[in-house]
Amino acid sequence: MTIAAAAPFARYRPPAPEPLERPLGTLAFLRALTSNPLNVWTRQAYEEPFVDLPGNVIGPRLLVNDPEAIRRILVENEGNYLRDDLQLRILRRTIGLGLFTAEGAAWRAQRKVVAPLFSARAVSGFLPAMAAAAEAGIERLSASPDGTVLDVAEQMSTIALDVLERTLFRDGFRTPLAEVGRHSKRFVDGAGAVTILDVLGLPEWIPGLRLLRVRSDQRALSAMVDRMIAARRAAPPKPDGEGPETRDILSALLAAADRETGIGLSEREVRDNVLTFIGAGHETTGYALSWALFLLSGAPDVRAAAEAEADAVLGSDREAPAGIADLPLVRAVIEESMRLYPTAPFLSRVARQDDVIGGRPIRAGSLVLIVPWLLHRHRRLWSDPDVFDPGRFLPDRRESVPRFAYLPFGAGPRVCIGSAFALQEATLVLARILSRFRFDLAPGHVIEPVQRITLRPRGGMPMILRHRAAPTSGLAGADTPR
Ligand code: HEM
Repeated sequence: MTIAAAAPFARYRPPAPEPLERPLGTLAFLRALTSNPLNVWTRQAYEEPFVDLPGNVIGPRLLVNDPEAIRRILVENEGNYLRDDLQLRILRRTIGLGLFTAEGAAWRAQRKVVAPLFSARAVSGFLPAMAAAAEAGIERLSASPDGTVLDVAEQMSTIALDVLERTLFRDGFRTPLAEVGRHSKRFVDGAGAVTILDVLGLPEWIPGLRLLRVRSDQRALSAMVDRMIAARRAAPPKPDGEGPETRDILSALLAAADRETGIGLSEREVRDNVLTFIGAGHETTGYALSWALFLLSGAPDVRAAAEAEADAVLGSDREAPAGIADLPLVRAVIEESMRLYPTAPFLSRVARQDDVIGGRPIRAGSLVLIVPWLLHRHRRLWSDPDVFDPGRFLPDRRESVPRFAYLPFGAGPRVCIGSAFALQEATLVLARILSRFRFDLAPGHVIEPVQRITLRPRGGMPMILRHRAAPTSGLAGADTPR
């Protein structure tokens, strides 16, 4: 497509914490870890393939930035590397014992139950539902006059929740989307932060202060899941094949739980998976869209080219089933946004047995860290690592991105089950938003990326909404305000 050929674009370097010259002392480290773990990294962490992190309060750890070593950990010898205690502790108190936190046979059984909903065929079948959720979001945004300042993070999160309702949870959440988003955000903000209690490994029944503050959000989410399950049990859908409403993730989970023999899911696993798929399925995609809109506001040339691509593909017929293959630049914007602001910024594993990675011995019990935030900005793996350049992900250059230097969705058997779903969703929603609106950062607002479980903008993402005229033909260039 000609638009793709418009690259290279001007060099935009978005904000990010400066690497430290030397490691923090224990107290400063703990403060940074609980406030924003992105602030603990030294220059070395952005430059070296391996960094031995000192054995401070959370014990010795090895940071791995070497793509071959990462392949060994996540793929070749993945059975030797399990999610570690600190990560599990934080994840389990937010999304419980679902697919994300399960291991071994329980993980395999759960993954098998939900896998059909994420096959290539199922995901492309979700195209119309994703487009409808984007259009509903556009209608909500259209109600605000030109010049309104909106929290884009909140808006994108609502669209992502709507996508889940129209695809995976077809009876809906039985709670207004904005309310689900609010409870979920507050809960993950509170419960998803590392606390001193976590670091010291104190018993989990001692609730941290942050957790106490978000108890009401936790209760609201939990009651919502109970209502969803009870309603589905009271009125089960018709058997598969008799209508479009028959099969979704709730039916898949409940059917597995109701099996009388074999390895059915427990009640707790069903509940926790509902919570897992709501949490994992909207926060990450909602923030990926928000970061993309933020980056585009700093790169007007890329934004104009992406708008032109969206206009050309969507044209005046918004019912047209555009797939992501038709939107190479918009897709590249999403992929480059996930490089600079990976919404899952941190992976960690503990070795069960001794191993060797990249020629380095790993002792049983060692903690290895794979940090997409660092890997994606690594000085030896990327040229101009801090510069926003979607051209890297255009079809003619995409092949040269090393597989294990770019891990927004992880890799190996534990790779994000929703990766194709999320990439399709984010690309389609972004294209539709770009064809109708332009967003610029609210004056005076400084964006600070902060790591919770997801990578989010501290204090949200206030942006000014500008309406673009709806295109009347497939031609580009409709960028005059209404
Ligand atoms: C931009 C959006 C997304 C990003 C960046 C993302 C990122 C990730 C990453 C990095 C992992 C692997 C974690 C690890 O290895 O420790 C993961 C796992 C997972 N993701 Fe996503 N995700 C996204 C969207 C989604 C969506 C849309 C869903 C579901 C609707 C989803 C559900 C899951 C689940 C259930 C797992 C656990 C898989 C397993 O362990 O078998 N994610 N995600």
